[in-house]
Amino acid sequence: MEKISITFVELKELVNNFFQDKSGITNFNEAEKVRFKYLGRKGLISSLFKKIKEKSPSERALFGKELNFIKSLIKQEIEEKLVEFEKISEKEEKIDITLPGRKFFLGSKHPINIILEEIKDAFYSMGFEVATGPEIETDYYNFEALNMPENHPSRDLQDTLYLDSGGLLRTHTSPVQIRVMEKMKPPVRIIAPGRVFRKDTPDATHSPVFYQVEGLCVDRDVSMADLKGVILSFARHLFGRSAKVRFRPSFFPFTEPSAEYDFSCILCRGKGCSVCKNTGWIEISGAGMVDPEVFKFVGYDPEVFTGFAFGMGVERIAMVKFEIDDIRLFYENDLRFIKQFS
Ligand code: PHE
Repeated sequence: MEKISITFVELKELVNNFFQDKSGITNFNEAEKVRFKYLGRKGLISSLFKKIKEKSPSERALFGKELNFIKSLIKQEIEEKLVEFEKISEKEEKIDITLPGRKFFLGSKHPINIILEEIKDAFYSMGFEVATGPEIETDYYNFEALNMPENHPSRDLQDTLYLDSGGLLRTHTSPVQIRVMEKMKPPVRIIAPGRVFRKDTPDATHSPVFYQVEGLCVDRDVSMADLKGVILSFARHLFGRSAKVRFRPSFFPFTEPSAEYDFSCILCRGKGCSVCKNTGWIEISGAGMVDPEVFKFVGYDPEVFTGFAFGMGVERIAMVKFEIDDIRLFYENDLRFIKQFS
């Protein structure tokens, strides 16, 4: 930059003030502030430009020339400062490549979801579809249409959670059978996974909320042998080729005949252990042939169609498969527990 001598007093003062300000700058922000004070839109330089017209015509050209010179001088000086501090802060922020990286945690599937997916896979492979129904049910779907008379013990306030609205929390997934049959004509092949609710005090084997998967198959000529075949095939899918299934006579108002079915204990392979309480068998749930009374509720002709239905407790299966001895562990959301299944 060509050197010129400043003739105007106020410009000399401006230059002096600037150099004083500049000498006090210790960081990037202060340099920015000084730049703003002198070069900003309403800064000292631009206010001096406005004063040109107050000068006598003979002075104006020189004043303008000196002011332009000062402006570029200040610009250059302050830019040097800004660059200087930017470099310093770059040095300060320099990445330390010896630091260990940030740990990146992957989520993991909940054991109940792992089992639910295995159950679905097993039934998809047998041509079943997934159906769902509401958790808040009516008396009709949860009991009445399932042939449970008004005085049936499971309707008791002791077992069922009734809502003020008049509804109830479904006590099993069987109401989905009714909802599906109301909408579909046979052939029907569905499973219905979902949460169910019972007025149970939590302990190692009871939880007021748990998962069931309902199964329903209706067509012409469906027999108990089909039910046994499907359940056995499912047990093998889940626990391997050596899995065995047994059916014991039982009673449910919505199936006739009814059974309870067990899987051979996968831990002791039937020899007897603490998980199967030395019986060699693990109880899974109930099953049976759909009661003709239920078909009447949904308008299926029991003379033409037959079907089987089954339930299963998902936690039970997960407990056996993963050797978990307390159902409450599934609902405590303790990451130390959940992470073991990823
Ligand atoms: N809904 C029955 C229960 O919760 C299980 C079941 C389902 C039984 C289907 C028979 C047929 O215990």
